[in-house]
Amino acid sequence: MKPWPYPLWLAHRGAGKLAPENTLAAFRVGAGFGYRAFECDVKLSRDGEAFLLHDDTLDRTTSGQGSPAEQDWAALARLDGGAWHSPPYTGEPLPRFAQIAAFCQANGCALNIEIKPCPGEDARTGAAVAREAARLWAGAAVPPLLSSFQPDALAAARDTEPTLPRGLLLDELWAGWQEAAEALGVVAVITNWRLMDRSLIEQLHARGWRALVYTVNDAAVAERLIADGIDGIITDAVDRLGPGAMA
Ligand code: G3P
Ligand code: MG
Repeated sequence: MKPWPYPLWLAHRGAGKLAPENTLAAFRVGAGFGYRAFECDVKLSRDGEAFLLHDDTLDRTTSGQGSPAEQDWAALARLDGGAWHSPPYTGEPLPRFAQIAAFCQANGCALNIEIKPCPGEDARTGAAVAREAARLWAGAAVPPLLSSFQPDALAAARDTEPTLPRGLLLDELWAGWQEAAEALGVVAVITNWRLMDRSLIEQLHARGWRALVYTVNDAAVAERLIADGIDGIITDAVDRLGPGAMA
């Protein structure tokens, strides 16, 4: 296997339980707990701005409504992305991808960018996020790891910026996933932790792929996976697990 430049522990959606997920505030909280690697979800506005949001709609985590793919960035930038979480975060904006890139590089943090397209936007999002990531991390020692559940998004990322590392996300081991990972030229496979065990880690390693899991919030599960040789653990529990607590 090739050298792996990423820390074992990654904070999920920033530190997206302790602060509003996928906001700069969440990244600050994670860094405050000693985290030096993050996962976040990136999608596109109607006018092609890459920004952070998990859901297909704005309703749960912002003051807006409906699909973000039907709004321009100028409107999305005015939304409140923090009040839903707790009063101290009222007014926290949705971050542009470029802001998160700047935070990570200023603080020596690695980033796993989950390409999270709105429905029907897989290829457009994969290509745009890869292009922007290559621009934002040009010359950086550690490139961001691009990942997606959507093979079409990863294929577009591969075709746009072939040198950026890619990881296939799996919530189930669907038929043909190994062939898909091969065709996509991934460096990692990132599964729901319930799918991962020593046997699968060994299978992945034998093919030259790193093995990562999401979202582990239980110490015993983390300890078992570490003993089995896991390469990366995405967690919400940045105050209980990982840097300063376990690693
Ligand atoms: O990237 C791993 C993990 O974030 C995938 O699940 O739904 O939290 O984006 P989700
Ligand atoms: Mg995610």
